[in-house]
This record gives sequence, C-alpha cells and structure tokens, in this order.
Amino acid sequence: EKGGYEHFMLKEIFEQSRSIRDCMRGRIYPNEGRVQLGGIKEYADKLKNIDRIIIVACGTSWHAGLVGEYLIEEYARIPVEVEYASEFRYRNPIITEKDVVIAISQSGETADTMAAIEMAKEKGATIFGVCNVVGASIPRLTHAGVYTHAGPEIGVASTKAFTAQVTVLTLMAFYMAQQKGTLTQAKLVELLTELDCIPEKITKALASNELIKEIAHKFKDSRNCLFLGRGSGFPVALEGALKLKEISYIHAEGYPAAEMKHGPIALIDEEMPVVVIATKNSSYEKVISNIQEVKARKGIVLAIVTEGDTEVRKMADYCIEIPDSSEAFLPLLATIPLQLLSYHIALLRGCNVDQPRNLAKSVTVE
Ligand code: M6R
Repeated sequence: EKGGYEHFMLKEIFEQSRSIRDCMRGRIYPNEGRVQLGGIKEYADKLKNIDRIIIVACGTSWHAGLVGEYLIEEYARIPVEVEYASEFRYRNPIITEKDVVIAISQSGETADTMAAIEMAKEKGATIFGVCNVVGASIPRLTHAGVYTHAGPEIGVASTKAFTAQVTVLTLMAFYMAQQKGTLTQAKLVELLTELDCIPEKITKALASNELIKEIAHKFKDSRNCLFLGRGSGFPVALEGALKLKEISYIHAEGYPAAEMKHGPIALIDEEMPVVVIATKNSSYEKVISNIQEVKARKGIVLAIVTEGDTEVRKMADYCIEIPDSSEAFLPLLATIPLQLLSYHIALLRGCNVDQPRNLAKSVTVE
C-alpha cells in the first residue's frame, strides 16, 4: 500500500508529478491558451464582474490560499483576502451577494471551514470549494467547485494535496484572467505551456532527495529554525515551517524575509538554521541582501536556489537547486525540497512521520 516507500508521506511526496498532472488533466489547452473548469463554468459570467474574493481555510490549505492570493491578484486583477476560517467565522465580517468565497480543504470535513462557509452562504455569497475528497461535506455545502484530484492522502502532514490546491488556484487565476481579459491570448499560451511542463520539473526537483537527506543530518539537532521568503515565496516559507514543526517537533517559523529585521533577527546566532527561498525572480537581489544579514550574524543558511545559481552559492552554507521557472510556478517547485527536508529531519529524530503526536488528519471539532 505504501508502494515500496517507507512511509506514506514519502510516497505522497514522490507522487507529486503525477498528482499535479492528474489535477490539470482536461482542464488546460496550452496551444489554444485556454483553461476549462467544468465545476465552476456556470459562474463564468459572474467572474467577469466580481469586486473581491475571500479565501477561507485552515493550516496548509490556508497557505495554499495565500499563494492563490498572489496569483489571482497578479493575473486576474481581483482583490483577494485570505482568512483563517476559525477567525473569520467568529468575526462579524462584511460579506455581500457580490462576494465569491473560495473554501480550500483537503479533507472537506474541517469544522471551522464548514462553519465559515455556512456563515458566508447565509449572507448571500457565492461559495466555491477546492477539495480533495470527492463527495465530502464541504463539496456538498458549496455552490460549485474544483476538485484537486490528488488521490487519497494518508500522511497527516499534507504534501501532494497542497501542491494540487496550488495547481487548482493557479488554474482558477488563469480562468478568471481569461474571463476578464486581463491576460492576452499569447500570454495564456505561454503560461499554460509552461504549466504543462511543471510535472517534469517536479521530477527534477525530487532528484535532490539524496542531497537533502545529507543536509538533514546537519539540521537534525536544531531546536529552532527560521524559514524566509518574499512574494509567493513567503507562503512557501510558512508551509516549510509548518511541515517541520508538525513532524519533527522542531520549533520553526516562516517569515517574510524583509520582516526579519523587525524582530526575528534577534534570534540569529551560530546555532540558528535559516532556510531561504532564494530563487531567481523579481525579489532575487533583495533576498541576497537578507542572506547577507543572516550570515553577518553567523546564522546557518540553507538556500533553495534556481538551477545553475552562483551568487547565492557564494554565501549560503548549503544550497538545493530547483529547475528554473516563471514566478507563477515557483511555489509548486520550491515546496518540494522543504517537504523532503522535514521528512528526513523527522526520520533522523525518530519521529512518527505519518502520524505525528497530537494531530489528526482532519480536524472535525472546532
Ligand atoms: O483538510 P483540510 O485541508 O481542511 O485541513 C486543514 C488543516 O487541518 C491541515 O492542512 C493541517 O494543517 C495539516 N496537518 C497540514 O499538514
């Protein structure tokens, strides 16, 4: 059942080129520059005129929501707010019939997310679901939705469901852009052609597994770990930190790289590992200066870099390469090494990777 892998988590990490491919199947037409999302097609016209989108979710699904925010705002130019379902439901949020709420949930059974949906529905919003488990409670509560089709996820730490959620949100962003005309046909052809190649790039990113296993030895006795990223690398940092704390019980925090100097920099010394998303994109130069700030205080830097990078390599203690890609697809690729890193660290610490203490696969109580 684990397909020859030692743990479900590892199996699920390695399934990601296939699960992302499954998620896109029948939904993208790169040559035509067209996205088709059958689950929300009845709302295609509504999407042309919406003022804002609210994304509600918990945990890893909330991180996927943050990536969705970057993508939808960038490509479809619709304002997005991302809310923790548990906070949203207990506020008195301003929601109208004009709003579209996207609820993201792997299990489709998370109590807080369900309650947030019910509240928004009562106030007249249109609710879309992004779920993995077909026929679960959330897909039954929503007006429409797009399944992630990642297949069953057994490991408590979400891996392939996260990348599938990000894939669906990427498709939704392009779909909305197509409806609104905020992306040219040529640009859509270009983006979808690249998206179509992401599964192969995921396979390449997975090839760093042995290297990551070695690096894990250097980090296994750490008591804390900081994860930094900018732009859509920030939610990736949050997700990397959550994975590490969930399964290895090392305290970890994700931070926007530039926020470090507003507090967490005080934590940095020769015992503090800092994982930095330092790929070649619009914030590359800025991230390099953030790495210099960490090194000046003797922090240990593990950088996730673009294949062939030489600049960061001069400064970082360890580097893990991922294939080059447009910024839009960075979260899908940069997440892979962080999943493997937390897996190997947890294993070396003798932790129960698939069933970490105190955690359940779906949180059906508030
Ligand atoms: O099933 P859901 O996506 O609604 O679950 C939300 C969170 O409970 C979940 O992502 C949790 O944070 C995972 N253990 C993360 O690995």
